[in-house]
Amino acid sequence: MSFFWGSWITILSLGCWLFIFGVLVWTLKSKPELEEDGTTGHEYDGIREYDKPLPKWWLVIFFGTLIWGLGYFVLFPSIQPNVWKGVTTVEVDGQQVPWTSANELNSQLQANNKVFTENFEQVILANAGASEATAVLAKLNELQAQRKDGEENQELQKQIDAQLALLAPYVDKLAADPEAQKIGNRLFLQNCALCHGTNAEGNLGYPNLTDNDWLYGGSADQILMTIHNGRVGAMPEWTKTLGESGVKAAAEYVMSISGNQNQETLDPAKVTQGKAMFEANCVACHGPDAKGMTAVGAPNLTDDIWLFGGDRKTIEETIRKGRAGVMPEWQTKLGNERVMLLAAYVRSLSQNQAQ
Ligand code: HEC
Ligand code: HEC
Repeated sequence: MSFFWGSWITILSLGCWLFIFGVLVWTLKSKPELEEDGTTGHEYDGIREYDKPLPKWWLVIFFGTLIWGLGYFVLFPSIQPNVWKGVTTVEVDGQQVPWTSANELNSQLQANNKVFTENFEQVILANAGASEATAVLAKLNELQAQRKDGEENQELQKQIDAQLALLAPYVDKLAADPEAQKIGNRLFLQNCALCHGTNAEGNLGYPNLTDNDWLYGGSADQILMTIHNGRVGAMPEWTKTLGESGVKAAAEYVMSISGNQNQETLDPAKVTQGKAMFEANCVACHGPDAKGMTAVGAPNLTDDIWLFGGDRKTIEETIRKGRAGVMPEWQTKLGNERVMLLAAYVRSLSQNQAQ
């Protein structure tokens, strides 16, 4: 909380408490002057006002709420910012820390996660015959704990990727387990459907995950790495290198090898020109046969399956301006267990397709 709002709330809440307490004490102490008959002398429509003490039950409740309020001041961080942190604590990362709403949320999430992890290891992995995965997960956790915020450590990443490769066989076991798939499906709907669609069939710019056509590869370890680390597609923009006419020629060539499903009339001269350009500039990523390369996430351009669209205008736009599709990483948000379940679910989707 900012200094201003922290102080604002402190002054208001303490001020309110003191004001109410003050008013109560004042009314208890002040004795109005009474007439001879014991009334205050106020008269309304013939009704005269006595000065009687406040009822006991009412006073008890009133003082009770004031003390209750004081209790809150003691228990919780009531004098902001950070002058009085309160005596209440919650457990975060195995340590007792002062209560804040954020700490409370973290504490509950961690407690929940613990239950989930235990259940994952003792029930889900065990039922799928993949209990040995726990040893790999422990090593993975250990490596992940060494990562530092905002720092890229390629050596460490390599070791993490090596553990992910070791997890792959267990992902395959989970992919064959109906119970694990059910959980994976729910996790997918919560986290992934927004971009990939509820049926995982994708959308423009978001790949279809059910079709056995892969940017980054469809084996268990490749899918696991995609979800664990995230991916960024890097299709350069070509206007500067090729010029506008070069972009058009390259697009014409791409259409000629893709099946040209839109049946557009192709210009053979441009196709020939584009072929030479493709061989000089594009094969490094898309491969000599234009069938793509999972190492860089370059799509197969010959299969009539399009990430961004296969009409002339869209292909030209892709080549003209480049593309950079971003698949977020999920490990820090969901943890290794859920990443495994999601990889298993995605893997099962394309396996179902293959059958
Ligand atoms: C913010 C949008 C977004 C969300 C949310 C998202 N993805 Fe993706 N995902 C993408 C994009 C974009 C790509 C393609 C990256 C590229 O163009 O290089 C991708 C690629 C992938 C791939 C690789 C496909 C291939 O052909 O190799 C997999 C697998 C995948 N996502 C799974 C998931 C899973 C599982 C989740 C949920 C945990 C998820 N994605 C959530 C945007 C998203
Ligand atoms: C540095 C590697 C690299 C080079 C070089 C490269 N591409 Fe790409 N290309 C990619 C990647 C990666 C993607 C996917 C982008 C994404 O997922 O955001 C892509 C996507 C495309 C697409 C979109 C396919 C679809 O399914 O919608 C077309 C078309 C394309 N490239 C054509 C070309 C042409 C033509 C050239 C040469 C002039 C070329 N690329 C050179 C990496 C490359």
